[in-house]
Amino acid sequence: MAAYEYETHEYDVVVVGAGGAGLRATLGMAEQGLRTACVSKVFPTRSHTVAAQGGIAASLSNMGPDNWQWHMYDTVKGSDWLGDTDAMEYLAREAPKAVYELEHYGVPFSRTEEGKIYQRPFGGHTTEFGEGPPVQRTCAAADRTGHAILHTLYGQSLKNNAEFYIEYFAIDLIMSDDGVCQGVLCWKLDDGTMHLFSAKMVVLATGGYGRAYFSATSAHTCTGDGGGMTARAGLPLQDMEFVQFHPTGIYGAGCLITEGARGEGGYLTNSEGERFMERYAPTYKDLASRDVVSRCMTMEIREGRGVGENGDHIHLHLNHLPPETLDLRLPGISESARIFAGVDLTKEPIPVLPTVHYNMGGIPTNYWGEVLAPTKDSPDAISPGLMAVGEAGCASVHGANRLGSNSLIDLVVFGRAAAIRAAEIVDPKTAVPTPNQASVDAAFDRFDGLRHAKGGVPTADLRLEMQKTMQADAAVFRTDKTLEEGRQKMVAVADKMADLHVTDRSLVWNSDLMETLELTNLMPNAVATITAAAARKESRGAHAHEDYPDRDDKKWRKHSLCWFEGNAAKLGDRPVHLDPLTQKDEGGIDLKKIAPKARVY
Ligand code: FUM
Repeated sequence: MAAYEYETHEYDVVVVGAGGAGLRATLGMAEQGLRTACVSKVFPTRSHTVAAQGGIAASLSNMGPDNWQWHMYDTVKGSDWLGDTDAMEYLAREAPKAVYELEHYGVPFSRTEEGKIYQRPFGGHTTEFGEGPPVQRTCAAADRTGHAILHTLYGQSLKNNAEFYIEYFAIDLIMSDDGVCQGVLCWKLDDGTMHLFSAKMVVLATGGYGRAYFSATSAHTCTGDGGGMTARAGLPLQDMEFVQFHPTGIYGAGCLITEGARGEGGYLTNSEGERFMERYAPTYKDLASRDVVSRCMTMEIREGRGVGENGDHIHLHLNHLPPETLDLRLPGISESARIFAGVDLTKEPIPVLPTVHYNMGGIPTNYWGEVLAPTKDSPDAISPGLMAVGEAGCASVHGANRLGSNSLIDLVVFGRAAAIRAAEIVDPKTAVPTPNQASVDAAFDRFDGLRHAKGGVPTADLRLEMQKTMQADAAVFRTDKTLEEGRQKMVAVADKMADLHVTDRSLVWNSDLMETLELTNLMPNAVATITAAAARKESRGAHAHEDYPDRDDKKWRKHSLCWFEGNAAKLGDRPVHLDPLTQKDEGGIDLKKIAPKARVY
């Protein structure tokens, strides 16, 4: 057994991750008098939410008619009927409240002439249950909305006495023998000390796993740490086959050009100068949902109408917009286009390509953020002591495809929901549970094994192999052949984890070891993605299967689940929640409006 000294800390709640969801949960818990710690591997305001550009969806009706039922309808349709109806209702209903709270906390939203929060159009957001024109629903702070939200939530959390443990890396969850989460073991990166956080509730807010792919808009820190820890704790991951490609990553660099660019009037063209989205999505055109636009761009390229020397990308035009609009509404991407594409967007189009952006799948939860431990008889059974929020979780509001700007609202609505629920079930007067020593020892043993790994494969080489495999075989379009080949390659890649080589054995600022721990988190996320994708024999949302081009609601309107034993993935499923929280006669949505139908934009 590995012998490490460690410091112990006791809290009512420990939140792992300090992005939008983690900070909103931390703030909510602290506001309600729970002793709350937030542990983060990066400084809070460097979390990946800082990169969120275009905005946060809520039916405020500041720029025209809107209501939460239309928002819910768009979310249901966007999810390609895989989202959980209760969770989608909760999201759309609570969104305005959550945004006004942000405003009152101090988020510096852009303003209309009358001083209201400015809202812009975003893909897939419509009026009249998809029958009316696009709606301006996405509340924005120029094109730096995530930045504004993150800084505000961090300040408010400090004001409410939340305690922060910054640059602490979460190694593993501590679980009792009967499956209760009791805390998390962490490594303090700057001095090499070890820390055991015991808590009555652990909240995973660790973000997505975009870095399982070679080219992603996600920060290098997006390594699916929550999913990795959850899988090792014997709990499943859900709907992992659904990976969102954002239509407009900068060609080559992968950095995000916000969908707000098309919301403000930007459009895409092919090598013939054609606005091709008019052909594919005659009503909403460039403002169709992301999965649709990414597929259309890929088809244009495949059919020989890509732009550039190699015909392998697409142009995004903003050069027709007044420079004042670009300055006011899109200052951030003006800078990104100049730095990363060498383009003055007042004069030239930006070269763009669909780029991995978001994971619809994650740790299954109910709409309070409570993690599920589903069984056949009890598909909604709760895993006590554990919550997951934000991109790490799967509530599931995005189903098979997320609408742009529904991510920031997911972070704050469900971060807030987790805090509301925790205040109901966590009793500050009871003692913090004594952590299961066997689980603590196992976490140290795993850490020590990796620290001293002396196999033949450096971490960076294996990570690259994983990223290239995922990029090639779990792409925008998939076939039985590419998925099965990819799955087999990923099994072989994951098996090489036993032969890793870590060069640096120290404990202080050891990035080699930290990246190795991150790789052990990325790997189950990647394997689950390609395994579940190979199994799903239909096309739905972001899962575009060329051998099964249609959605098959009879067989496949269900959530996929993936458990791990070591590296081996085992699949299962659980039903989609079809019932809303409220019925039509209680002011809820008319169920007929959200019945499955063909998804056209
Ligand atoms: O395009 C964007 O600004 C991204 C927004 C989102 O992913 O929600």
